[in-house]
Amino acid sequence: MNDVKGSVSQGAVSQGRDFLAIPGPTVIPDQVLSAMHRPAIDIYTGSLRDVTESCLASLKTVFQTRGDVYLYAANGHGAWEAALSNVLSRGDEVLVLQSGLFATTWGESGSLQGLHAQVVTGNWRQPVNYDKAAEALVADKSHKIKALLAVQVDTASGVVNDVPRLRQLLDDANHPALLMIDCIASLGTMPFLMDAWGVDVAVAGSQKGLMMPPGLSFVATNAKGKGAHQNADLRTHYWDWTFRDGPEHYMKYCGTPPEHLMFGLKCALDMLLDEGLDAAFRRHQLLADAVRSAVSAWGSNGLMRFNIEQSEARANSVTTIELAEGRTPDTLLNWCEKNASVKLGITIGDLHGKGFRIGHMGYVNAPMVLGVLSVIETALYVLDWEFEASGVAAATNELGTALK
Ligand SMILES: Cc1ncc(COP(=O)(O)O)c(C=O)c1O
Repeated sequence: MNDVKGSVSQGAVSQGRDFLAIPGPTVIPDQVLSAMHRPAIDIYTGSLRDVTESCLASLKTVFQTRGDVYLYAANGHGAWEAALSNVLSRGDEVLVLQSGLFATTWGESGSLQGLHAQVVTGNWRQPVNYDKAAEALVADKSHKIKALLAVQVDTASGVVNDVPRLRQLLDDANHPALLMIDCIASLGTMPFLMDAWGVDVAVAGSQKGLMMPPGLSFVATNAKGKGAHQNADLRTHYWDWTFRDGPEHYMKYCGTPPEHLMFGLKCALDMLLDEGLDAAFRRHQLLADAVRSAVSAWGSNGLMRFNIEQSEARANSVTTIELAEGRTPDTLLNWCEKNASVKLGITIGDLHGKGFRIGHMGYVNAPMVLGVLSVIETALYVLDWEFEASGVAAATNELGTALK
């Protein structure tokens, strides 16, 4: 009776919730979606002011700063531009530490703004080259370099860089450059201690660890960043912190507030802080460990490998996986999407076409992540991509051992 055999195998187990396992945008909690589902409200009176104040206070907690946070109706690229334009001037030099795609792109966007980007070239399989960065800082006796740009997590390569070590490099070289960090793919998923680590300007977006739709971004700065702001000539009206510090509420947005996104953001930040940052970081660590155990198991016969060589440099928010020669990622990704409604991430930049990425950040729990791993393993079976050891068994064993 229960043996229901259909003639259609494609999509046989796809009906149900689609699952987005790309590294941003990420899954949006129903509570956040509901918080945005409301009519537009007046922008001059009423509750919006409280929502803004609440979000700014919560963001300071999330960035771990007593400095100022600015909100932008923009994606991460917008926040990059906002950050650079507020503290730098045309012709200034920035030292860009490559470790994948995103610091490089930030530097390129700075070049288009009129900055000179000196790139410390990196390797897509490793963190930034700390030694070469130190050399560049020590060699810069006249302090032409005004800012050092790096990402905490590079979403393309899956690397995590050591931000306190970057502060140390500047201090050891006695170099006054601003330390500017993109934590777009890490904020809310792992510790980021802006003040304690001496980060001068930090950039984040709404659509990854913060569980929100894309469209909002945030720039945090300390007193040193505010000092640099006084002389920056790249400032423009929309991004300008001075204007946004003005007395009227609308100035915080330089125009009409993206009010629905703000209601969603308040809900998302409340959820994150109710869980507790430490609990959220531990959740990400546990789930990332489970993913890594699965990938190690599947890769034990050479079918796949981690893009990032050193285990301690693998991010807790995204895992980038390279497939063995001859394996086409699209085959795997298409199977997962068409048959099980799981959307995995493609690899981008230098890694394009070479593998896939699993996003495991934001609103994710054990069934979501273990479900994704189970779907991948099912696909490997169906596609006859032979693997030696079960990734699902390894992941559940890893998680079970950690939680025992
Ligand atoms: C680390 C990092 N920085 C910057 C960006 C750019 O953000 P956006 O695509 O929102 O402009 C991304 C996007 O994925 C990212 O992962």
